[in-house]
Amino acid sequence: MKQALEKIELCAREELAKIADPAELETLRIRFLGKKGELTAIMKQMAALSAEERPAIGQLANRVRSDIEQALAEKTAQLKAEASALKLREEKLDVTLPGKAPKLGKLHPMDVVMHEIEDIFIGMGFDIVSGPEVEYDYYNFEALNLPPDHPARDTQDTFYINDNILLRTQTSSIQVHVMENRKPPIRVLSPGRVYRSDAIDATHSPIFHQIECLVVDKGITMANLVDTLNMFLKRLYGEECAIRLRPHHFPFTEPSAEVDIRCFNCGGKGCSMCKGEGYVELLGAGMVHPKVLKNCGIDPAEYSGFAFGLGLERVTMGKYGINDLRLLYENDLRFLNQF
Ligand code: DAH
Repeated sequence: MKQALEKIELCAREELAKIADPAELETLRIRFLGKKGELTAIMKQMAALSAEERPAIGQLANRVRSDIEQALAEKTAQLKAEASALKLREEKLDVTLPGKAPKLGKLHPMDVVMHEIEDIFIGMGFDIVSGPEVEYDYYNFEALNLPPDHPARDTQDTFYINDNILLRTQTSSIQVHVMENRKPPIRVLSPGRVYRSDAIDATHSPIFHQIECLVVDKGITMANLVDTLNMFLKRLYGEECAIRLRPHHFPFTEPSAEVDIRCFNCGGKGCSMCKGEGYVELLGAGMVHPKVLKNCGIDPAEYSGFAFGLGLERVTMGKYGINDLRLLYENDLRFLNQF
């Protein structure tokens, strides 16, 4: 019996050493220590022993039982420790690693310039107002004193949805919406996209951007126009910038002028950049034509106004020294990242 007990202990230890799965531990416990287990079976035979033998065997049996119990407990603890070590290894997270910074976009150079211009005008008390890009002929041409067969329409051919509806060729159309909907005093700046059926080259694009300025109030004169232009352009380009006005014709202004800016390259002496002129053409301007005021329900006997419109591409190119308009649309990051 002593040998049987020792064999059980040996066997239990051997089996235990092979176990790698906690579920198998329980099976092993039942096999050796359970009610129908191997040790219990031997204990049951103790009744048959003589009174002298019984205490020693009893003691041995108890020791074997507690040894196996202890070995089981140790194995259980060992498996638990291994499992949690494995889990830790698998879930390892190095919180000291630097994070992945998201790639931040930035504003397009034309947006930068547009925001700058908007800020300048907001500072002078103007509202920023937009209008529809798909426009009625009336707003784009007719109300602006360009009746259906007016020759000046030729310079602004566009994309027609039908005879009446087109893609606007100029932000001047917004002037009409504004004057229809607001009472003077009016002070608005209207940036927006415009369309013309022009072929693409270094200075032309069928889609480009303009910024329109409109002021209507009692007693507005050409002096207010020149002063506003000077304030605006000196803030945009710096105090040293100078302008000149050349008489011109626009159907919606009378008198009209083209506004040139002194060449930044030669300071007015004349160079290749200004083609020897000393000045570079910048924008169109004038006093709002009385007919236009009347078309929009404003009495020209009581009110007068000035307006001007400039190309955002041209201003941006001038400000950053960009020599090809197409660069602004190609979305080449090597170009855009310079701004
Ligand atoms: N709309 C004109 C153009 O596209 C520019 C312009 C000229 C706007 C004179 C004006 C203005 O407001 O008064 O060429």
